[in-house]
Amino acid sequence: MTATQPFGEPASGPAIEAVDLVKHFGETVAVDGVSFSVPAGSVLGMLGPNGAGKTTTVRMMTTLTTPTSGTGRVAGHDIVREPDAVRRAMGLTGQAATVDELLTGRENLRLIGALYGLDRATIRRQSDDLLERFSLTDAGGRVVKTYSGGMRRRLDLAVSLIATPPVLFLDEPTTGLDPRSRVELWEVLRELVDDGTTLLLTTQYLEEADQLADTIVVVDKGRIIAEGTPLQLKDASGKAALVVTVSRAEDLGAAEAMLRGISEEVHVDHSARSITAPAEGLGDVTRAAALFEGSEIELDDLGLQRPSLDDVFLHLTGHRAEEPTDTDDLEEASA
Ligand SMILES: Nc1ncnc2c1ncn2[C@@H]1O[C@H](COP(=O)(O)OP(=O)(O)OP(=O)(O)O)[C@@H](O)[C@H]1O
Ligand SMILES: [Mg+2]
Repeated sequence: MTATQPFGEPASGPAIEAVDLVKHFGETVAVDGVSFSVPAGSVLGMLGPNGAGKTTTVRMMTTLTTPTSGTGRVAGHDIVREPDAVRRAMGLTGQAATVDELLTGRENLRLIGALYGLDRATIRRQSDDLLERFSLTDAGGRVVKTYSGGMRRRLDLAVSLIATPPVLFLDEPTTGLDPRSRVELWEVLRELVDDGTTLLLTTQYLEEADQLADTIVVVDKGRIIAEGTPLQLKDASGKAALVVTVSRAEDLGAAEAMLRGISEEVHVDHSARSITAPAEGLGDVTRAAALFEGSEIELDDLGLQRPSLDDVFLHLTGHRAEEPTDTDDLEEASA
């Protein structure tokens, strides 16, 4: 990395940095003092419900709108003072598809490649590579109007990669995709990051941030309300639980009595044949396993359950992260 670092840029500075970003729209405070820093080659997940300020933050970082105050840098370039340099260093896939419906997939790639000033040979090579990578080779000659929602999303991402930017911003990249297309897109994103791309992605899906992000910032009402690795956030939101599931319902009472030796606060769920108790960590799992090992009680399962990011959000904000609605409709509308 140091070998290709252009002269005059800090070799080890963060690839993306926001410093106290604020954006007002009239009376509305869309972003209210947001700061974060993303090391090169890592993934920041910005997680928050509708209206949290995710898109506005991305629009400021990608020079599409000017901050009311605060600043940011992308690949070492100031988003307000050096917008052209920022644009050259980054790719953006916005929340709404931006590809031209009346052009083919390949024509869309060619058009954006030309806008970036790439030469014909590079455009051809890059287009072929990207169509291949996103499983669009066969569809490359068809007009986008005929694409499914998942195909459009993939083309959108391909287009934002034509100039091989080192920094990529993705605003809700998988909203509107069915679960399988979502998992496929995650795979592609992991490959990009493995190849050294720095990624900032926004999402309303707790699982998506959990799957992809090295660090998560949780945003609500324009502010960062928590920050950490997925594991740290889960640990901060409450204790883990020991969950034991017995094979035979008639063993529930005996199993409950045994677990009371570990914790006073056991909870029995008769329909699930399971018992839950607060746990400090894996040590409690080992102790419980040893207890049951020497007993007649047969178990289906014994393990440690960590809080989900859903629990995290509830814990932090007092309300659940709004689940995205109409995803099926979206998929259909763009299909
Ligand atoms: N151009 C604009 N003019 C006026 N208000 C705006 C504008 N853009 C965003 N807002 C407001 O700013 C707030 C943050 O919006 P933003 O789009 O950044 O949220 P978001 O986190 O991206 O939400 P979503 O998950 O729904 O995409 C909202 O209250 C929104 O109504
Ligand atoms: Mg948005």
